[in-house]
Amino acid sequence: MGFFLHLYFKKTLKLNNQPIGLFDSGIGGTSIWKEVIKLLPNENTIYLADSKNAPYGEKTAEDIIALSVKNTEYLIAKGCKIIIVACNTATTNAIDYLRSNYNIPFIGIEPAIKPAALLSKTGAIGILATKGTLSSKLFEKTANEYTKNITKIEQDGEGLVPLIEAGKLNSPELAHLLTTYLKPMLNFNIDHLVLGCTHYPYLIPQIQQILGEQVKIIDSGEAVAKQTKAVLERNNLLAEIMPRKIKHQLYINSSKTVLENIIATVATNKDIFEQEF
Ligand code: DGL
Repeated sequence: MGFFLHLYFKKTLKLNNQPIGLFDSGIGGTSIWKEVIKLLPNENTIYLADSKNAPYGEKTAEDIIALSVKNTEYLIAKGCKIIIVACNTATTNAIDYLRSNYNIPFIGIEPAIKPAALLSKTGAIGILATKGTLSSKLFEKTANEYTKNITKIEQDGEGLVPLIEAGKLNSPELAHLLTTYLKPMLNFNIDHLVLGCTHYPYLIPQIQQILGEQVKIIDSGEAVAKQTKAVLERNNLLAEIMPRKIKHQLYINSSKTVLENIIATVATNKDIFEQEF
């Protein structure tokens, strides 16, 4: 493209090559990050894994807001143009606060109760999420809105996030917890299980084995990526489609080994840093 034509397009379309920021209490939000970079291959990203403070799900709403503010300010200081709160617990407790205090678009993730309730044939769905999410006002509001004629079995996944953060995905402890949490749901004849925590998609094979193929597992990674694309388009914030180096930077404030392993096969153009934030 000629230089002036390029300038013209840049001015008219107001393209923006600043990175997309994402944060989570740890490595779980990479389940969202993976979908985002797949759908938006021209975008640079910065991901924060606040593993030092995981799990968020056991903290008070005030603490979750304070940690979300810390992560948001770090991403804004790094020049992010939009922030994806890649954590159900942080979204359900802090997104209203973030939206009213920072002048940047936020994308949140909430347990996908609505599609599960609409698709359910047995009239019973399961929801596996953190205590912080299940006890939040936003979760209560969404659940009340969409599950009036539905039996919903809520289960706190206490203990799962620390095991995932420790890289113990295939450990007997994790298998035992999952079985204890999920098996009883089958007595209610659930046909959908909503994964209400971004760490849980990494457990899908084990979950499917416990629940059987007749139960459909719903996670929201792809939906969040689509929503991010729509919001970028609406705000003229998409990056330029031009040959240039795309960079993904991931920061973790504890050891990076588990993060490296869990995304080893995703994106070759990424750098992982152990850093305080
Ligand atoms: N990935 C976070 C979520 O979606 C985990 C919460 C936690 O740290 O307890 O809820």
